Amino acid sequence: MPTSTILGTGMAVPDRIVTNDELSTMMDTSDEWIRTRTGIEQRHWVSPGETGASLALTASTRALDAAGVTPDDIDAIVYATSTPDHFAPGNGVYLQQQLVGRPIPALDVRAQCSGFIYGLSVADAWIRAGQYRRILLVGCEVQSTGMDISTAGRDTAVIFADGAGAVVLGASDRADRGVLGFDLHSDGSQAERLWVDAPGSMYHPRISQEMVAEGRHFLSMEGREVFRNAVVKMPESVNTLLAALQRSPADIALLLPHQANLRISEMVQKSLGLEPGQVYNNIQRYGNTTAATIPIALDECVRAGRLREGDLVVMTAFGSGFMWGSAALLWG
Ligand code: UT7
Repeated sequence: MPTSTILGTGMAVPDRIVTNDELSTMMDTSDEWIRTRTGIEQRHWVSPGETGASLALTASTRALDAAGVTPDDIDAIVYATSTPDHFAPGNGVYLQQQLVGRPIPALDVRAQCSGFIYGLSVADAWIRAGQYRRILLVGCEVQSTGMDISTAGRDTAVIFADGAGAVVLGASDRADRGVLGFDLHSDGSQAERLWVDAPGSMYHPRISQEMVAEGRHFLSMEGREVFRNAVVKMPESVNTLLAALQRSPADIALLLPHQANLRISEMVQKSLGLEPGQVYNNIQRYGNTTAATIPIALDECVRAGRLREGDLVVMTAFGSGFMWGSAALLWG
């Protein structure tokens, strides 16, 4: 049975940088509050003309270049996003059209902050099954157009942001490299703690002026509850996965936690008994880009030369759904 290995990575963020000081001109917040509570110093937001599809295209082109393959080599697309350009279809088809051209399958995965890990599990399963040999996997998000950029929305507006990360996965015959396994969960009883209520097909019409006036189209979050769960569920998931693989946290060369809050990542690190050097954080520069945080972090680590052949890389995420989980792979 083939294993799947990462052949190349890429990322893209919008040109516009939004600093904490700029946010404090739009709402009652401060650089000090945002840094202390979240670790975030700046983030990127799209400008008119930049879309999820355009960010994904740039990130994907870079991943293909890094992998040394062309769009003709891609057999399928898996596209993780909770913020597609339109209600329907998903965004994978735009990459199919703009990057590949041939009518290959394109699957959108809606698992929010855990989207990249869920997407990786699907792509890995397709490769192991022998169905496809090279898959483009994207995590991409445009959150800025769906946030309440005022004091009423400050708990989310200072955190969430835009960006894309992509990897090319390829089938390999080496059993000592590539994806090792996953630990995946969900709990829909918590769905409304971090969600976008509307537009929704349960409403007639799906969105109305009244709903917009009430702000039901904005991302809304019960931050403390999400925080409380995130710091427990991510370490639990990593430990479950490592136990199944007969490994321990000490074996981790690099942990890529979902970038939701620097305090969350630090608590996850301590809970797992890891050294700071085993964990990568870049939320300071990008904020929380939901499904894109992990592939962006991975691309930065790869380009900085942080990974060596055979390194154990673990990814973990927690977010809206609630959905959470972890993935482990041997680099190379
Ligand atoms: O991506 C997946 C999931 N997302 C997360 O994992 C995020 C999880 N949650 C968090 O990161 C944190 O809960 C937040 C950063 C959202 C909030 O931090 P907190 O330490 O939990 O603050 P809080 O919600 O308890 O609010 C403390 C105070 C409140 O004021 P009062 O009621 O104490 O007077 C808030 O109104 O801070 C206020 N506040 C702000 N003040 C300045 C909330 N947002 C802001 C803000 N600027 N942006």
